[in-house]
Amino acid sequence: MTRNAMLSNPAEFKLGLFSSNCSGGLAVTTAPERWDNSWANNLEMARLAERAGFDFLLPIARWIGYGGETDFQGSVLETITWATGLLAHTERINVFATIHTAFNHPVVVAKQLATMDQIGGGRAGLNLVAGWNRPEYEALGGQLPDDHETRYRFAQEWYDVIQRLWQENDPFEFDGEFWQLARTYTYPKPLVDKMPVINAAGSAQGREFAVLNADFLFTTVISLEQTAQEIAALKQKAASIGRSMGVMTLASCYCRPTEAEAQEYYRYIVDQADEGAIDNIMAIMFANAESFPKEALASLRERFAAGHGGWPLIGTPDQVADGLEQMASAGLGGTVFGFVDYIKELPYFEQEVLPRLEGKGLRLPRLGSSQVA
Ligand SMILES: Cc1cc2nc3c(=O)[nH]c(=O)nc-3n(C[C@H](O)[C@H](O)[C@H](O)COP(=O)(O)O)c2cc1C
Repeated sequence: MTRNAMLSNPAEFKLGLFSSNCSGGLAVTTAPERWDNSWANNLEMARLAERAGFDFLLPIARWIGYGGETDFQGSVLETITWATGLLAHTERINVFATIHTAFNHPVVVAKQLATMDQIGGGRAGLNLVAGWNRPEYEALGGQLPDDHETRYRFAQEWYDVIQRLWQENDPFEFDGEFWQLARTYTYPKPLVDKMPVINAAGSAQGREFAVLNADFLFTTVISLEQTAQEIAALKQKAASIGRSMGVMTLASCYCRPTEAEAQEYYRYIVDQADEGAIDNIMAIMFANAESFPKEALASLRERFAAGHGGWPLIGTPDQVADGLEQMASAGLGGTVFGFVDYIKELPYFEQEVLPRLEGKGLRLPRLGSSQVA
């Protein structure tokens, strides 16, 4: 059976690209060169990322934008169709779909993901979102449960259905709290014996869910010291139930030949922040999610302008590579990046930063990481 490459080489620091399917990408800025999420741009970005040896592409599932001057993330390529298209056009890189449990029937999703995996030759992944963005729920005519317990109880049952559909050969009955399914089954199965699963969570319930189910938990970083402690505790918890789970984060990268140039470009982008959109993101996050600690949220405006609150990597290729090394030392197993313009920035990152990561032993020699074992 095929093994998904995301689950191979756990010692290697994994690299992904995040949010290229959304208008603006990750940078909440009005700068005219902000990311244009056209399909043509996504395809070119995927080919550049694959050539550079990136491990994976991760989209955002978003149903309404954040308003402001740019309506940040108001245009979004739907993630299952986006991922399927990219899988058909690439050979090595892993591509995730991001799926809200509440908006997608698990029997349908099990088949969609299995189909994606067949098309991609074992390179599909699932990023599961249990819910936090209340206006989005209302736009879909639903209600976000107020409490995290209900959100993650629902997510657990949803994922249990999918796992049984993939693991069991015969029709079965499912009689749960949220789903009652009669004589259900699905073929084909995914090509891989284990499809990689991502869950992003800050709350205790979300992290508990990740420890039980995810291969990679995504968390935001406020300080690397604090993150290191959290990771150690999470990994211990996973080990205590016989699981292993990687922890990753998101970063925004501003890399130039000199530090002054990198800072100048960074300032140029954040000085043109879309303040209205940032107000809206923060208000929704503050009310409904625990992705960032509430006491830290207000101080993160600039980080949101630069890259949706991602850990900043600003400077020369040496400084960016050192920053990534520090992240790895804190126990992070990888990161996803936002770039203001993925296509313009990737070749420089490939040429200057990736060899430095190989030199530091964080990455295997080029392309080795992405090959299906
Ligand atoms: C890497 C990453 C990817 C995410 N992808 C999405 C997404 O596509 N759609 C979405 O609504 N939320 C997305 N989120 C937000 C998380 O799902 C949200 O922060 C989480 O549910 C909040 O944590 P909590 O449930 O513990 O409060 C993402 C977060 C991170 C860090």
